[in-house]
Amino acid sequence: MSEIKPVSISYLDFKAGKDFTEDVSAAFGANGLGLIVIRDLPDFQKERIAALRTIRKFANLSEEIKDKYTHSESNYSFGWSHGKEKMRNGVPDTAKGSYYANTLGDTTTDDQYLKDTFPEMYSDNVWPSEDLPELEPAFKNMSHIQVGVGYMICELFDKYLRGLTNGLHSAGHFLDMLKKGTACKGRLLHYFPAPPAANKSEDGLCGWHLDHGGITILTCPLYLDLEGNEIPAPSDCGLHIKHPSDGSIVKVTIPADCLVVQLGESFQYLSGGHLRATAHCVKSSKTPDITRETLACFMDWLPEETMKLPEYTRPYAEVVHTPFLPEGVPDLEGRMKGVKHYRDFYSNTFKAYHSEN
Ligand SMILES: [Fe+2]
Repeated sequence: MSEIKPVSISYLDFKAGKDFTEDVSAAFGANGLGLIVIRDLPDFQKERIAALRTIRKFANLSEEIKDKYTHSESNYSFGWSHGKEKMRNGVPDTAKGSYYANTLGDTTTDDQYLKDTFPEMYSDNVWPSEDLPELEPAFKNMSHIQVGVGYMICELFDKYLRGLTNGLHSAGHFLDMLKKGTACKGRLLHYFPAPPAANKSEDGLCGWHLDHGGITILTCPLYLDLEGNEIPAPSDCGLHIKHPSDGSIVKVTIPADCLVVQLGESFQYLSGGHLRATAHCVKSSKTPDITRETLACFMDWLPEETMKLPEYTRPYAEVVHTPFLPEGVPDLEGRMKGVKHYRDFYSNTFKAYHSEN
């Protein structure tokens, strides 16, 4: 297994209006890793550390207190969630706990139909105001930076596709679509210290999958010992990608002061296969007595968005094909069957991952 340096771009260069055509092509084209690193982010480290330390504090509260902030109505997709999600063998995943919230606002819609039909996406935020009031501002401050980076990357995608298609791609198309989405979810994650036996599988923390939505923005994880002291990232763990050009597994290291943006399959489809998502997993460390903290932000489309290929699409077979798809991961072509709207794709994906894995 090799370690690879991903394509990296500067936030300051973006602000200065630099052209990133080659970077987008290298990162998200047919042979790209499906991700890009963003560096030079103002105020980043302070907010990152604050958010990641707060989730550890929350996870260390008593079960009774944590239970006050669970939200069964949304299938634990808001507030605290621990042991509610299942792993591929059907066993509840107790290795990690998550705190979920919409990053765009505490209430993103008054539409009761949307709230009732898609509680996982449209419920109101739940905050531990009584027991850990600092979690809310820490979460919001860090996610705010992530959302800004998400919009920035979307702007780059629009420019890239417009250039690539000689103007067939409408200016600002995906940025507008993503801004309409409002289902933008932040997931603050705490990986509990794992017993050594739990760390045997290749993808011990988060199994092989492709992100299915729009874009995902990830912080570099913070590793802590049991006293809460920061320790260097163990060398045997982290984000691993199936390289689309030869199927090799490569490790991607995210520098501590950077964010990484990954593409989801629905974005691949809507871009007519010009932008590509890749299969990835998070490998666990064999080092005992450490915790891992991270914050992922998932930016998604509206459920009623139409899943239609653009006129400049690549051939269909190519659009829905993922080279070297890891065993057990449901293919995109199968989940696109009968899909008209994004909500159909979301639902097919949910079912596929929960039945096949
Ligand atoms: Fe992922």
